[in-house]
Amino acid sequence: MARSSVLSLLNASAAPTAPVLIQGWVRTRRDSKAFSFLEINDGSCLRSLQVVADASLTNYAEVAHLRTGSSLEVEGDLVPSQGGGQAWELVARRITLHGATPEDYPLQKKGHTPEFLRSIAHLRPRTNLFGAVFRVRSRMAYAIHRFFQERGFVYVHTPIVTASDCEGAGEMFRVTTLSPEEMKQGVPDFFGKPTYLTVSGQLEGETFACALSNIYTFGPTFRAENSHTSRHASEFWMIEPEMAFCNLEGDMALAEEMIQYLVSTAMEECAEDLAFFNKFVDKELLTRLAFVRDRPFARLPYTEAVEILLASGRSFEYPVAWGQNLQAEHERYLTEEHCRCPVTVFDYPKDIKPFYMRANEDGRTVAAMDLLAPGIGEIVGGSQREERLDVLRGNLARQGLSGEAYSWYLDLRRYGTVPHAGFGLGFERLLMFVTGVSNIRDVIPFPRVPGSAEF
Ligand code: 4AD
Ligand code: MG
Repeated sequence: MARSSVLSLLNASAAPTAPVLIQGWVRTRRDSKAFSFLEINDGSCLRSLQVVADASLTNYAEVAHLRTGSSLEVEGDLVPSQGGGQAWELVARRITLHGATPEDYPLQKKGHTPEFLRSIAHLRPRTNLFGAVFRVRSRMAYAIHRFFQERGFVYVHTPIVTASDCEGAGEMFRVTTLSPEEMKQGVPDFFGKPTYLTVSGQLEGETFACALSNIYTFGPTFRAENSHTSRHASEFWMIEPEMAFCNLEGDMALAEEMIQYLVSTAMEECAEDLAFFNKFVDKELLTRLAFVRDRPFARLPYTEAVEILLASGRSFEYPVAWGQNLQAEHERYLTEEHCRCPVTVFDYPKDIKPFYMRANEDGRTVAAMDLLAPGIGEIVGGSQREERLDVLRGNLARQGLSGEAYSWYLDLRRYGTVPHAGFGLGFERLLMFVTGVSNIRDVIPFPRVPGSAEF
C-alpha cells in the first residue's frame, strides 16, 4: 500500500474510497475511555493528523502508552472529523510501532527556546518552528533556480576549493594536507600551492558570463571572519548571478526583481508556514512582506545616504563619515526609519571596496551596490565589474595583489572584454527576511560559527 502524506490527507477534497497508510512521529497522545487520540506529524506540513485508535486494536495496550516522538505507521480510514479544528481524522485499522521513545525524549510538549533547540540540532527539525523553517528553505532554493532558469540563466558550479581570495579580505579557511611541521619545512602542499575554501564563486562565475552571457551560481561559501553577530555564519550559501553586457542599473534591477519574486513565492507557496511565523515569531512579518512584494524599492547613492545619516540627529555607536563602511545600525536606520522599505545604496567609496569593482568617472567611487532589507540590513552585495584591462591592473597593484595569480581573470579583459555586472544574495539572510527568524543559526540545518561546529 502506498504511503500518503499528512498534507495530502488533510487537504483531501473527498474521503478516499479505500484505506490509506501514513507514517510519522507522535506529537501528542490523549486518552479517553475507549479511545486514544494520536497527533501524527510527518513533516509534510505544519499540521498533524489526528488518528483515532480504539480499544479493539490488537495492540491497543501498546498504543495507549505511546510517547511523544515515537515513530509508527497507521493504516486506516479517513473520515470527516468529529471534533473541531480539522476537517479529517484517520480511524485506525492497524498501527505498527517502528520505534518507541523513552521518557527522556527532549522535545516535550512545552515550548523550548531556540537556544536550547540549537543544542539538539539533530532533533529540532521535529518541532513546528524548525520544520517550517526548513520547508521554506527548500522551497526558496527551488524558487531561486526557477527564477533564473525561466530567464535563461545558466547554472554554473564553481569550485569550493580555490587558490584565489575573491573579496581580498583574507578571511579564508586554509585547505591543506600538511602537518604544521611539514608546513614549516616548506613541504609542497597537495595542490602545489596554498588553497582555501571559497569565499565567493564570483571570479569563476565571471569567466562563464563572458561566454554564456547570463549565469548564476548557488553553493556554499566560507568566511573565517571572527564575527559573533546574529547575521554572520562561517559557512553559508550564496546565489551569485553574473550578466555580460550589463551595467549597475541592470544589476540593481535584477536584484530587486529577484527579492520581490522570492517574497511573493514564499507568500503563495508557504502560506501556512508563514502564518505560523507571523503568529509566533514576528507579528509584523506578513504586513512587511506584502509591502515589499507590492511597492517599489528605494535607491540612494552612498554619498546621499551618508548625508541622511549625518542629518538624522542620531547618535550611532559607530560614527558616520564619508569613506567609512556603513555599519549594520546605519543600514537599519536607512531602511527601517528613513526609507521604510528596502533600499539599494550604490556608488560606494572605492577605498573600502574590492579590486574588481568598476571605477566611476568621479575618481573616488565605484559602481557597487548593497541592497538593504528592513530588520536585516545588507542582504545583497554586488557591483559592475572593472572591464578595462589597464584600470584593473592598477587596482590589483594598489591593493597589493599579484597580477600573476589573477592572470586568468585579466585574460577576460584581454580577449573580448565586455561590461558586466553581478551580485551575491546571502541565502540565509533571505531566509531570515521571509521567516522573521532573527538569528542566522536558526535558518541553517547545522550552523557553523566561530567556536562551534557541532553535529
Ligand atoms: O557582500 P559580499 O561579501 O559579496 C560578495 O561575496 C561578492 N563576491 C558577491 C558578488 O558580487 N558576486 O557577500 C554577498 C552577500 C551579502 O550581501 C550577505 O547577504 C551574504 O552574502 N553574506 C553572509 N551571509 C551570512 N554570513 C556571512 N558571514 C556573510 N557574509 C556575506
Ligand atoms: Mg557586502
